[in-house]
Amino acid sequence: MRPTPPPRTYRVKSFGCQMNVYDGERMAELLAAEGITPAPEGEEADLVVLNTCHIREKAAEKVYSDIGRITKDWRREDGTSPLIAVAGCVAQAEGEEIMARAPAVSMVVGPQAYHRLPAMIAEAVEGRRTVDTDMPAETKFDALPARRKVGPSAFLTVQEGCDKFCTYCVVPYTRGAEKSRTFNDLIAEAEKLVEAGAREITLLGQNVNAWRDADGRGLERLIERLALVPGLARIRYTTSHPNDMTEGLIEAHRDVPQLMPFLHLPVQAGNDRVLKAMNRSHTAASYLAVLDKVRAARPDIALSGDFIVGFPGETDAEFEDTLKLVEAVGYAQCFSFKYSARPGTPAATMDGQVPVEVMDERLQRLQAALNASQLAFNAASVGKRCTVLVERKGKYPGQWLGKSPWLQSVHFTGDAGIGDLVEVELVEAGANSLAGRIIIN
Ligand code: SAH
Ligand code: SF4
Ligand code: F3S
Repeated sequence: MRPTPPPRTYRVKSFGCQMNVYDGERMAELLAAEGITPAPEGEEADLVVLNTCHIREKAAEKVYSDIGRITKDWRREDGTSPLIAVAGCVAQAEGEEIMARAPAVSMVVGPQAYHRLPAMIAEAVEGRRTVDTDMPAETKFDALPARRKVGPSAFLTVQEGCDKFCTYCVVPYTRGAEKSRTFNDLIAEAEKLVEAGAREITLLGQNVNAWRDADGRGLERLIERLALVPGLARIRYTTSHPNDMTEGLIEAHRDVPQLMPFLHLPVQAGNDRVLKAMNRSHTAASYLAVLDKVRAARPDIALSGDFIVGFPGETDAEFEDTLKLVEAVGYAQCFSFKYSARPGTPAATMDGQVPVEVMDERLQRLQAALNASQLAFNAASVGKRCTVLVERKGKYPGQWLGKSPWLQSVHFTGDAGIGDLVEVELVEAGANSLAGRIIIN
């Protein structure tokens, strides 16, 4: 690679989960601290960071088409192209392979090493390509600049990595072992986020409810302490594993008013043989028992989940068990996916890979059931009064968009501003959003 001038503008494109969104924000702040500014909308940037996701094949392949587009569209008159950094989980999984496959890439940096990006940029400017997929013992968080400006709803990564090794999943390999950030660091970052404009914080982790500090305190202790941060009105957390839903965390849903009545608890499938082959270490019944306890603690809780259809060996009858579970739970929202065989995972070489047409058909049936469930949940909310945290302006003059406590999108018209918590009555429900009317006291 030839030397290039130091980049003046950047763009970070994040794919995948909310943890990648959080990492993308932190990388942007890191670049800004180096004096590199965000490229204006629609203009090319001198440095593009592709913050990638490896969870399913489609997501992982996207990075190569993106690199192709950047180098093709943005070839400049002097023959130079933007510097490209590949970050995120594809970087971690395919480090050297990306370098070999995509000569236009000058930096490959894993999710635990991105605090080293400025040094890598300096190398790239000199014409040297670098790969850093270390999982260093020192934490990147200590090396990152403080949070400055955020929206009303902010993310805070509290825990990274996964030790569960579900047989279909790449996360334990791309994000490494479970590791919790310290209590004090998290309180300090939360206070900074509130100063920077946050009224709601969503605690993030690949297994967020596995968060533990050195003294053995669990996530509920962190939530209780965060509830004391002045100005922080709402707390959420995601994604949880059924086996880490402790009594203490369930009780926090009863006892901490700032903890919003919403729980994303992936189950993946409703059949116990399939769950065992997935190495989920819970059964359909034990999952439902957890939900019963959560509902007892917080009767109005909105439930959400993740599903995979067409796991190797899944029969029609076994898939029916997933539909039965959906029926039994009454989810408020959900994510559902076709199984994607990921290199290096045990499931990729299991017998009985399910044909794509069968997966398509199952996904359609599952999504129809989930959409009906979501609409029913929203319809049952009509007539309720609640607060809406305003996140942005709507399409129409005077219209605002925000979230209810149950994470529903709500639109309403009236006197408000971004970051306000507005009292509304929910008056009309669709599958994806509700209309609210401001309550004037
Ligand atoms: N740690 C979280 C989820 C991480 S990945 C948890 O266990 O709940 C987010 C979702 O992607 C998973 O819940 C699962 O539904 C889906 N997923 C993961 N690997 C997949 C694969 N190989 N094919 C299809 N979907 C997958
Ligand atoms: Fe993947 Fe399972 Fe870990 Fe979730 S719990 S990240 S699905 S291995
Ligand atoms: Fe994707 Fe990595 Fe998140 S694989 S879902 S970006 S942890």
